[in-house]
Amino acid sequence: MAQLARRSGVLITLVALALGSTASLAGGAEPIPRPTPKVAVIGTGGTIAGVSRTKVSFDDYQAGKLPVSRLVNDLRPEVNRIAGVTTQQFGNKDSNNYTIPEYRRLTAAVDHALKFNDGVVVTTGTDTMEEFAYWLDLTVRSDKPVVLTGAMRPWTVVGSDAPANLYNAIHLAASGRTTCFGTVVMLNDQIHAAREVRKSDTLRLNAFSSGSSGELGVIDQNHIRVNRAPARVEQCGKPGWKTPFDLDRIARRPLPKVDIAYSYQGAGPQAIKAFADAGAAGIVTAGSGAGGLSPAMTEARDDAVKNGVVMVSASRAAPAPSTTPMCAASSAPRA
Ligand code: SIN
Repeated sequence: MAQLARRSGVLITLVALALGSTASLAGGAEPIPRPTPKVAVIGTGGTIAGVSRTKVSFDDYQAGKLPVSRLVNDLRPEVNRIAGVTTQQFGNKDSNNYTIPEYRRLTAAVDHALKFNDGVVVTTGTDTMEEFAYWLDLTVRSDKPVVLTGAMRPWTVVGSDAPANLYNAIHLAASGRTTCFGTVVMLNDQIHAAREVRKSDTLRLNAFSSGSSGELGVIDQNHIRVNRAPARVEQCGKPGWKTPFDLDRIARRPLPKVDIAYSYQGAGPQAIKAFADAGAAGIVTAGSGAGGLSPAMTEARDDAVKNGVVMVSASRAAPAPSTTPMCAASSAPRA
């Protein structure tokens, strides 16, 4: 009986709230029309811009063929209802083919577009999308939404994830829901933080995972659900929100060379030695477990340190995917 009374209480409150909101609308206050948000889509290539040999050749296609304007035009007129979309062709090639000087230009293109738009979507290949995302997260100075997307199937096959991913990415950028999040990745209806996301499957449509941190949120048609935010959101509006990596202040000469050496059972000293001899300023080791290296690699590392190479220890252990997204802000380090 008490339970029934409690339930009716909840119902009465809900009905009262609903009636209250109708009454205030009916009371003459017209909702103020929100101007359509402006979103720039910057295309760099990848499978999302891919052309397949036939409608069913899911793996037999050429990436980076269609111009980004064509991709966006295929989404019209529907996309016009969520944003005023303009496009910019930055490049049209595989993600692996981009260089650090091109990354610098991409950051400038994103920051420039954000001066005139409410959000930016960058389309890229998925192979190194996590590098694109983390680079932009560290270097873009604007706190407006930056959303990266791509696809696991080319634009032209049946059941391609490409059009839905692009539409959802534009929707997310236009919504403003990731303001101050830095760069996020949107694929397969899931929103990931740049710092945590990695490509964890070579073929499946759910190819991206944020490991034990879990995704930031999801998009289900009109509903964008954000369950948690990257830790930097706490600095929103403060000078500390921006990272120290202001490219206008970092000299245009080539950045110091940093390589990655992977450890495994019986790994020799060759990789570290070769990187150091080729002039690496720093080497990151992907070690086993908490960062362990084989004895020969450990010796090579100690020699490299003596010769002035900065060594950073990381783990090759990939964090397990989470099934339940956490609800608190996270500052989990990227492995
Ligand atoms: C690429 O990374 O450019 C090709 C593969 C992909 O987009 O999925």
